[in-house]
Amino acid sequence: MATRFPHLFEPLQIRGALLKNRIMSTGHDTTLPVDGTVNDALVAYQEARARGGVGLIVLQVSGVHETARYTNHVLMATDDAAIAGYRRVGEAVHRFGAVLFGQLFHPGREVAEGEGGLQTVAFAPSAVPNERFRVMPRPMKPALIRAIVSGYGDAARRMQAAGLDGVEVVASHGYLPAQFINPRVNLRQDGYGGDLTGRLRFLREVIADVRAKVSDRFVVGMRMSATESDEQGLSEEESLAALSGLADSLDYVNVTLGNSASAGGAVHIAAPMSFRAGYVAPFAATVRQRLSLPVFVAGRINQPHDAEAILAARQADVCGMTRALICDPELPNKAARGAAEDIRACIACNQSCMGHFHRGVPISCIQNPVSGRELRFGAPAAATLHRRVMVVGGGPAGMKAAVVAAQRGHRVTIFEREKRLGGQALLAQLLPGRAEFGGLVTNLERELHTAGVDIRSDTAVDRDIVVAQAPDVVIVATGAVPYRPPMAGDGGLQIVDAWQILRETAEPGHSVVIIDWRADWIGVGIAERLAQSGRSVKLAVSGVTPGENMPLYVRDVAAATLHRLGVSVLPYLRLYGVDADSVYLQHVVSGAAVVLEAVDTLVLCTGHMADAALGDALEGIDAELWTIGDAAAPRTAEEAIYEGLKAGVAV
Ligand SMILES: Cc1cc2nc3c(=O)[nH]c(=O)nc-3n(C[C@H](O)[C@H](O)[C@H](O)COP(=O)(O)O)c2cc1C
Ligand code: SF4
Repeated sequence: MATRFPHLFEPLQIRGALLKNRIMSTGHDTTLPVDGTVNDALVAYQEARARGGVGLIVLQVSGVHETARYTNHVLMATDDAAIAGYRRVGEAVHRFGAVLFGQLFHPGREVAEGEGGLQTVAFAPSAVPNERFRVMPRPMKPALIRAIVSGYGDAARRMQAAGLDGVEVVASHGYLPAQFINPRVNLRQDGYGGDLTGRLRFLREVIADVRAKVSDRFVVGMRMSATESDEQGLSEEESLAALSGLADSLDYVNVTLGNSASAGGAVHIAAPMSFRAGYVAPFAATVRQRLSLPVFVAGRINQPHDAEAILAARQADVCGMTRALICDPELPNKAARGAAEDIRACIACNQSCMGHFHRGVPISCIQNPVSGRELRFGAPAAATLHRRVMVVGGGPAGMKAAVVAAQRGHRVTIFEREKRLGGQALLAQLLPGRAEFGGLVTNLERELHTAGVDIRSDTAVDRDIVVAQAPDVVIVATGAVPYRPPMAGDGGLQIVDAWQILRETAEPGHSVVIIDWRADWIGVGIAERLAQSGRSVKLAVSGVTPGENMPLYVRDVAAATLHRLGVSVLPYLRLYGVDADSVYLQHVVSGAAVVLEAVDTLVLCTGHMADAALGDALEGIDAELWTIGDAAAPRTAEEAIYEGLKAGVAV
């Protein structure tokens, strides 16, 4: 079949595994397992990706030894009882022609949480502390090293017995194998430390043990950070030297960047939208030039044309499109049948994928709330009764509800009072470094058109209009408006809200105080924007830190930007009042006053309140009535789109 993506759909044989295309879902911890074993939710999740046409799925990390439990949800491959679960995933994905590898994992000192809230004894090559999780590990005795080495091989044997096609040793992101390689983390004086040969011994033994316990057809690859992107982490030269020393024993190398051990290194584990698409590919290209091995790469490759360009330029042999597939599992099928424009592109917001992982809750996607919830929403039933559905409000909640209801066969009309659909997402995309957020609107608009929804923008709706339309169902998704908290005094200080700054309908003075109650994207984004324009900015936040409610890696990148721009951050403060040129704040714990003088402008990032006027006016109307998203209570786009899905499925 002629395709726009000839390189992407070229098969690749590696030992006994035939990849039907070059699209891979890299290993990613879904937090779906609850007791360390494969469950129905994980099978359904991976089956959906396989059905969507992906060539290779690498299953999330599996612990190879009892000391490998880095979270309370980690999958474990330490017992033959695990084989049955792996077999279920294997059968589910093989049915659709996808290849399945397992990830062999030991975190060493990178232990994020222990059982029952207790801190675990973490083991590492040496007693060198981890900065991010504040773990001081215990040096491994040789007997423990030997047990862990054979744990890798035993886990691989179990995965092969379950019918998987291969395994990937996780030596990336500063996990245990990388800790052995790293001369600043491995200070051992025995045969596992010292020069590169000594520091590679652990990995050599691991790979040899795996090979000894699997067949010749079984694939053995390795994941490695081309650079760990922080001072203590492996440099590019160190990683390349290690890879050169191991290449003869591997079937492929899966290149990534970053390091779990520091906030700066960890952002590369799932780089936010402020990193450009495909930014890891040049590092993969360097590895590919040095080694004669297939090289895989992942990192912000969210569209087939980006992957095609990377493959065509021979920067890599396989492209990981992990969040892209979380967001749209059908991406490969759509690209293959010439419908790439229908792909719901991932916007690298990290909100429901990595954001959920860090909160210890199952994976999902802000744009695709079916992800991780396949058992509940995977196959919405077609409507038996084709009803007339009127959606009022064209923000993310209303758009999603309209799409899903129309896909199920209802006759759907969506009304939006503004000229453009999108609601607050149109404002969110104006925050610095968040332009890609607007992709959420583009994707939903496309889905509205494809689903055949009748779109009436620039049309305000009141009760009379609803009555005249006589719908069977009304879905109120009218969103929210900025909330202005009561405060003491006035005295003429300029007070504006975040929406006015973003819409450029207010011109703040030079000395600005931002009061940030939500501790999310808005406060830090407004601070960045105003500081970039040369203003002096103080950011007073209600909690411990600005961005407390943001996905961690997005927050950490923002924290670095605010620091570079010289924004002064004031934690634990609430707004009390203002006068002509001062802002009065109060410490939220002690109640002590904090006075900021010589202020020109106070910017309120104090949240929103539901725009409930229409919902209230429709009380008692002769139609099924739903209120969703911010119109129900102001929250984020994630809840809005999820509630849109729920309403669309239920009507
Ligand atoms: C929720 C989540 C969990 C992840 N867990 C793992 C993991 O278990 N093993 C791993 O090697 N990488 C993990 N990663 C990193 C991904 O494999 C991948 O490298 C990353 O998402 C960047 O690729 P992308 O831009 O295509 O999403 C995780 C990523 C996400 C979003
Ligand atoms: S939540 Fe955001 S980053 Fe994660 S898959 Fe969805 S769109 Fe991509």
